[in-house]
Amino acid sequence: MSAQGARPVLMERFRSVLPVTAATPMLTLGEGATPLVRAPRLGASIGASDLWLKVEGANPTGSFKDRGMVVAVAKALESGARAVVCASTGNTSASAAAYAAAAGIEAVVLLPAGKIAAGKLLQAFAAGAKVISIRGNFDDALEIVRELGAGGGGVEIVNSINPHRIAGQATAAHEIVADLGDAPDVLALPVGNAGNISAYWRGFTDAVAAGAATKRPRMVGLQAAGAAPLVNGAPVSNPETVATAIRIGKPASWDTAIAARDESGGLIDSVTDAEILRAQEEIIRLGGIFVEPACAAPIAGLRNLIASGRVDGSGRIVAVMTGFGLKDPETASRLIGEIREADATLAGVRTALGW
Ligand code: F0G
Repeated sequence: MSAQGARPVLMERFRSVLPVTAATPMLTLGEGATPLVRAPRLGASIGASDLWLKVEGANPTGSFKDRGMVVAVAKALESGARAVVCASTGNTSASAAAYAAAAGIEAVVLLPAGKIAAGKLLQAFAAGAKVISIRGNFDDALEIVRELGAGGGGVEIVNSINPHRIAGQATAAHEIVADLGDAPDVLALPVGNAGNISAYWRGFTDAVAAGAATKRPRMVGLQAAGAAPLVNGAPVSNPETVATAIRIGKPASWDTAIAARDESGGLIDSVTDAEILRAQEEIIRLGGIFVEPACAAPIAGLRNLIASGRVDGSGRIVAVMTGFGLKDPETASRLIGEIREADATLAGVRTALGW
């Protein structure tokens, strides 16, 4: 039970589609039930007449990772684990650190050196995680985590190779179906390690099987051009992009992501860093939602795909805004404008405004 009033607890609300048993601790930090907001001005700028944003940055640690992390950490607790461990481009580590803190177990996070956005790194430290900086990239870190976890000893891997993570993340698809009354025509999202696209596809598939939705959306995944293994059809050994969250060259959920693409009649495309930065600015300036760079990939991609006719701009489109804008203040600092100084008088403010 919770003392959060009307706010649903994710593991209770979605109990029927989660691996929750009578022995599973009902851990919660208030994850899920995130806003689905219409974005007409942003939609108009990319040629989409019915565009919605699923605001996953509204989760407790500021990203969609909390949906799966609450389940993974609860199951780790249930199995008597003493520590959780993950590789991360930042958000998974922030989420693991927070849920481990609440659960009273240790969190160990392996991060690619120098490539973690400041907000995310701060979150991991603030929650008391043990932070290891790997002289390599995310893919190298995940390889080591697999070996660490294989050793047993009460150490649970909480990357998305842990099936409880995917089960939890699938709840976002159920929320979208509940809010819209059916699945949208298109679901667009950023793709890195490819767990989330796999989770959404599973969620929509389950929603149809349960009779909650009549159809499944086309899945439209977007990668950064410098880290686009699924678009190229081959791993990328030195992935590079301003969207550090999706700086991944060898996605763990490769096969399920390709299956989601193909079964849905969808596509996985890439966008340049310049397109990502432009779209990040538009999402806040035209939509009012401040997101980290990775979330701009689906908006930048949709613009290209609608323009080229590969996506129908008249359909109902949901784009997933996976993480909050203040996670990466350094990249966003280009948006800071000129500060207008003024005397502390009405006249002074009017002068500064030019009114
Ligand atoms: N968006 C954000 C903000 C992310 O942090 C991630 C992944 C993705 C999209 C891509 O999701 O990996 O399921 O395809 N972040 C991971 C991390 C890798 O370590 O935080 P995916």
